[in-house]
Order: sequence, then C-alpha cells, then structure tokens
Amino acid sequence: MLVPDSLLEVAVAARRVVVVTGAGMSAESGVPTFRDAQTGLWERYAAEDLATPETWERDPAFVWAWYLSRFGAVAHVEPNAGHRAVARWADLAQVEVVTQNVDDLHERAGNHDVVHLHGSLTSFRCERCETAYAGEVVVPERQVERVDPPTCGHCGGLVRPGVVWFGELLPLEAWERAVVLVETADLVLVVGTSGLVHPAAGLPVLARGAGAFVVEVNPLETDVSDVAHQVWRETAARALPALVAAVESRGGRP
Ligand code: OAD
Repeated sequence: MLVPDSLLEVAVAARRVVVVTGAGMSAESGVPTFRDAQTGLWERYAAEDLATPETWERDPAFVWAWYLSRFGAVAHVEPNAGHRAVARWADLAQVEVVTQNVDDLHERAGNHDVVHLHGSLTSFRCERCETAYAGEVVVPERQVERVDPPTCGHCGGLVRPGVVWFGELLPLEAWERAVVLVETADLVLVVGTSGLVHPAAGLPVLARGAGAFVVEVNPLETDVSDVAHQVWRETAARALPALVAAVESRGGRP
C-alpha cells in the first residue's frame, strides 16, 4: 500500500508522535463501533441511552448485564494489525497512545502507559466510595437482560463499570496528560474516531494549534477531517502497518 509521501516524511522526522484512537481502531478486531447498531438483546437501544448515569440509576442490573456482554466480547477478540503496528512503532520512536476506547487491545498489543480518556472495561469501582473492585466478574454464558452488580466489600455500595458515561467528567489526570502529549507532539495521528464526543474531539484542534502535523486515518469523512492537515482514507489495520513498515525501512528515529 502506498503511504502518502508527506505523511511519511513527517513520520520519519518526528521526535514525538501521538496516536489518538477511537472505536474504528478496534473495528477490525471485531469490536463494533459505538455508533454501529447494538447486537442481540440490546439491539433496540442506542449506546447513548445505555451508557448514562440516569439509566444506571434507574436499572443498574440492566446496565451491568450490557457491560458484562461487552466485557466478555472484548475478552474474546485479539489486537489487530493496526494495534500491533502502533506497539512496534513505540519500540522505534517516542510514540504515545491516547484512546477513547474502553477495551485493552492497545495494551495487549504491547503498548504501555496508554491514556484512557473514557476509562476501561476491565476496571470496576464502587459507585459510592469509589474503591476499586478486584473481585471476580462473571460473564453469563448466554446473554441475559439483567444481572445484579456485585457490592463493594467496604461500604456495600453497588460496583459499577470503570468507564465514563455520557454526561460524566473525564478522569482529570488522563485528560491533562492527553493535552500535554498532543500539545508537545510533532505528529498526531487521529485514527478511527467520529470526532463527535467532546472534550476528546477537541484534541486534534489543540494539537494543530500547538504546531503538530495532524493526520486523520479513517475510511470516512468525519468532524476531524477539516482539522487535519492530511486525511488518509484507509482503515487502521491496513494503514498503520504500512506506515510503520515504511518508517522502519527509512531508519525511523532512535
Ligand atoms: P464512533 O463509533 O463514533 O466512530 C467510529 C469511527 O471509526 C467512524 O468515524 C468510522 O468511520 C471509523 N471507522 C470504522 N471502521 C474503521 C476502521 N477499520 N479503521 C479506521 N476507522 C474506522 O466511535 P468514537 O469516535 O470512538 O464515549 O466514539 C467516541 C465516544 O463516543 C466513545 O468513546 C464513547 C462514545 O459513545 C463514551 O462512552 C463516553
């Protein structure tokens, strides 16, 4: 595959690279994107209706069952060639990953210190006292519509998914780190995000304002496209391995 020349030049010369990823990054691993229809029991619901504090408040067992199904689904998929390429690139140069994804596919591909803006499917905490929950989380063999969440060993509160729901604030530390990273980067690749959910969608704007070369990798036009210096209409699992192989063949950066 042909890597755009201007991107390759910047990628080879860049001292600091940040890869900002969204649901499209994991699509080729078989994780449905957020705005794709839900499947099975939840096909009648939009993610925006399930992932909210109000829905949890009203019906925690329903939301918990949905998260268990997502948790179980992600456990059964593998990082794709795009995740692996980003991990390989991080061995060659200073490459950081900032993701909106709640899966752990970047980590399983070999990236360390991934910044998770929207939390993680594999972490759980008490909704009341915030203590991390380290107990077992059992995924039902078949989809069921309701599962009672476990309770906190400290205060008896309900254990909730460690993800950011619509209307909730992002974890401050992760957000601040993401801003520093994109504002000090030479190259910011924005991969597989629709750029619809703020404040994460503001990162490409901050990056460009601070002088980074911004590239979008996405088969479709998005709200990020106008902000990017360059758009590459390709999928993550096709574009990223080609880019990293080309950088590597040019000697990359120590
Ligand atoms: P979306 O589902 O909104 O967008 C996915 C994007 O990935 C779209 O622009 C697709 O064109 C693109 N895409 C699909 N397949 C791709 C592929 N193989 N390679 C590259 N791109 C591909 O997902 P996000 O932008 O990540 O937030 O959604 C942002 C946030 O909205 C999520 O983190 C979640 C959500 O609802 C919270 O839960 C707070």
